Amino acid sequence: MIAPSLLAADFARLGEEARIVGGEPGAGADWLHVDVMDAHFVPNLTLGLPVVEALLKATTTPLDCHLMIDDPDRWAIGYAEAGAYNVTVHAEAVADPISMAANLRAAGAKAGLSLKPGTALDDWVEALKHYDTLLVMTVEPGFGGQSFMADMMGKVRRARSLVDTGHLTVVVQVDGGINAETIEQAASAGADCFVAGSAVYSAQDPAAAVAALRAIAAAHRPATP
Ligand code: DX5
Ligand code: ZN
Repeated sequence: MIAPSLLAADFARLGEEARIVGGEPGAGADWLHVDVMDAHFVPNLTLGLPVVEALLKATTTPLDCHLMIDDPDRWAIGYAEAGAYNVTVHAEAVADPISMAANLRAAGAKAGLSLKPGTALDDWVEALKHYDTLLVMTVEPGFGGQSFMADMMGKVRRARSLVDTGHLTVVVQVDGGINAETIEQAASAGADCFVAGSAVYSAQDPAAAVAALRAIAAAHRPATP
């Protein structure tokens, strides 16, 4: 799956930017990635629930809300209740990961857990049994346009193997620095879902960039065990 990140889009035209990458399932964006930053958990500030509510009316593509915020135990549920398809919180910020997942699911969303580059996967495997999505950050969260951290591929491979051996049932998602050059490494390591901001919205034709990324990822997908 390809999830274009609106962080790299024109914020004055978010509805249009969302629709530009839409399309039939399997052709356009599978999920639309929305980076919520609060200037506390990360230094940057982006957008919040009112903008997500407006986006939900502007596109039929499922919204994938990546909450880079403090105190997600208080705020995340609102995104699920509003109708976000997947709501991802950060392991480093969540107080009660198990209740978080249960509450998100009860509100009708998929539950996602994200790990910053310095956060070890093994400490979160038990909690991840309650989640639908694992977001492996391949940059430090906070800004678009950073370089892909290839040394995160060990974490992706380990996540893939936990899923393939039945220990987890998460979608393995990567976020940060994904482009036509780096997506191959993430795909070979076993990621299922690729977030791409700059690589999609800086392209002349964002929809074509989504299709090109999907084709490269598909070509490098590991054989299923
Ligand atoms: C970074 C965000 C990413 C960002 C990726 O904190 O979580 O989703 O949009 O942007 P690129 O693809 O430009 O690295
Ligand atoms: Zn993100």
